[in-house]
Amino acid sequence: MRFTFSRRHPTLKSVARVQSLGRVPRAILTNLDLRIPMRLFAAGQRLRFIWERDHQVARANRILADIASEVAGHAWERGWQGQKVLSTVTDVTVVTLGQAGRPPEALLKLANSETAAADLKNQSRVLAALRADARLHNWSALLPDVCREGQVGHQYYVIEILVPGVDARMVLRHPGARSRMLAAAAETIGELHTRTATIRPVDAGLLNQWIDRRVETIRPSLMHGTEQDRYTEKLEGLAGELHRSVAGQKVPVGWIHGDFGPGNLLVSPDGKVVTGVVDWGLASPADLPFLDLVHMLLSTRMYMQRRELGDIIRRLLDRGDWTEEEIGLLESEQKMLSSQTLDMRSLLLLAWLRHVASNLSKSPHYAHNWLWINQNVKGVLAAL
Ligand SMILES: Nc1ncnc2c1ncn2[C@@H]1O[C@H](COP(=O)(O)OP(=O)(O)O)[C@@H](O)[C@H]1O
Ligand SMILES: [Mg+2]
Repeated sequence: MRFTFSRRHPTLKSVARVQSLGRVPRAILTNLDLRIPMRLFAAGQRLRFIWERDHQVARANRILADIASEVAGHAWERGWQGQKVLSTVTDVTVVTLGQAGRPPEALLKLANSETAAADLKNQSRVLAALRADARLHNWSALLPDVCREGQVGHQYYVIEILVPGVDARMVLRHPGARSRMLAAAAETIGELHTRTATIRPVDAGLLNQWIDRRVETIRPSLMHGTEQDRYTEKLEGLAGELHRSVAGQKVPVGWIHGDFGPGNLLVSPDGKVVTGVVDWGLASPADLPFLDLVHMLLSTRMYMQRRELGDIIRRLLDRGDWTEEEIGLLESEQKMLSSQTLDMRSLLLLAWLRHVASNLSKSPHYAHNWLWINQNVKGVLAAL
């Protein structure tokens, strides 16, 4: 049985029916409910961030001085200095730059690991490709402008001009602004999709890229703790299930952002207008457009409910409790792309696979964080 966001099957009930196929014994959920330790861990991280703030601004200023001594005549001529550290979710330190006592004008992004540097370098390649793409004329005004990047000593850095607007996470608590933000976000990213996607059958190359390679990235994370064989079997079962449901389907394939959450979106304070889309390190030119919107909806739920992605996915697999608003947004995207899409369970699992594999490959912290693995990887596999 399949669910598509067509007018024939628009009701919540039909979604719930399909999603409930993978119902999970409650005991497994309880055993894996690690929300309290996760929150303690997050609180610890936050304290560390506060503790290190001044040190990071000083570090940014030392690196700015090093950049200035290597290359004459750029950003530093504007008298920029490190002002404030922004909290990040990866191995990148982000510090606002501007003149003393004035509003910030740019951001210095410092890669703290090889993978973080690779992510920043990939972002630069992606931004160059998107700007050069004639189909994205006008739309690319929403992209961040990297004004300088390079290496000083062992440190890879990027200086990015500050995109105007407020971080979309700031409007989530206000229901009206949140709804407007989600509608604007869906429309904005839908433009990227409609302008670049073409309908093609899912062939062996796409299956490898969307499923097999991501499964291989996740596999080593199951090699710690108990029941390794059971989780590995589940992962292989998932790969088989996705192959069967996706292979040969004619779907839109094009550019996707790949980490399209409120934290990477800048909007007007009332949520109505998207002013910028940042953090393009995980973008890809040949992926499933629907995954961006699914990721936006999942990560909005994560912030609103203060839960990990694994929890959100398990609940949706178990209960299928998509809201009317979420279904409406997904249906609009489907209309924009004038195409059928995959069934909701497959989309959800493909979005999960992409997100988890990206996190594991972009930061070694995730691979070593058993709490995160239990909550986001094993927890979801156990529910399949
Ligand atoms: N060019 C930019 N203009 C304005 N804000 C930005 C820009 N780039 C990043 N940000 C802000 O900084 C935060 C962290 O940067 P980001 O590159 O997304 O790192 P991470 O994903 O590791 O947290 C983002 O959530 C966003 O709010
Ligand atoms: Mg980000």
